[in-house]
Amino acid sequence: MEASRTELRDGRTAVLRPAVPDDAAAITKYVNIIGAEGRFVLRERATWTIDEERRTIAAADGRQAVFFVAEIDRRLSGLINLTRGRWAKDAHLAEFGMSCLPDCRAIGLGTALLTRGIAWARSVGVRKLTLEVFGTNDRAISLYRKMGFIEEARLPGQYIIDGRPVEGVIMALWL
Ligand SMILES: CC(C)(COP(=O)(O)OP(=O)(O)OC[C@H]1O[C@@H](n2cnc3c(N)ncnc32)[C@H](O)[C@@H]1OP(=O)(O)O)[C@@H](O)C(=O)NCCC(=O)NCCS
Repeated sequence: MEASRTELRDGRTAVLRPAVPDDAAAITKYVNIIGAEGRFVLRERATWTIDEERRTIAAADGRQAVFFVAEIDRRLSGLINLTRGRWAKDAHLAEFGMSCLPDCRAIGLGTALLTRGIAWARSVGVRKLTLEVFGTNDRAISLYRKMGFIEEARLPGQYIIDGRPVEGVIMALWL
């Protein structure tokens, strides 16, 4: 899998490429930044050591699981990780999570990362891409709808964020 370049709306260029084990420290730091925001993703902090993350990335073989990172000016600025079902019954399915750094949002980076993720899913024969998003996450839901995802279910009160119940929204794209 090769690196690709994308022009963003603010004039910067992002390089998208599969993660390598040497990205482990940057990814761990990145996950802590996104987690500390507290509003968009379930994970509040990285729960692994850098060595464990190195092994996780090394184990992502590009067929069962893959991590794509986006770099802007050599800084890790976005991430998508996709994991395919491991059994015959769910091998047609892949779940994913994605994010961009706060100062790299709404300029097309998420669209570029998800486009790359969808292309990967197609290339390995995945038929259905699925994810869960907080019902309060308007920008993420807009991105998924724009890319053709449909809502499959809304789970009332699935999460409590800042003391308020928040729906879990299950979305899917058939490929
Ligand atoms: C969700 C996220 C990955 C989207 O990536 P992004 O780079 O910001 O998205 P893009 O710039 O590619 O915009 C995607 C679409 O979202 C919509 N959008 C952009 N800004 C928006 C806003 N402020 N409110 C609502 N929708 C918005 C537009 O439809 C846009 O498409 P368009 O630019 O072609 O019109 C990113 O905002 C992010 O990291 N958010 C925090 C972490 C997160 O929520 N992860 C997903 C958890 S399920």
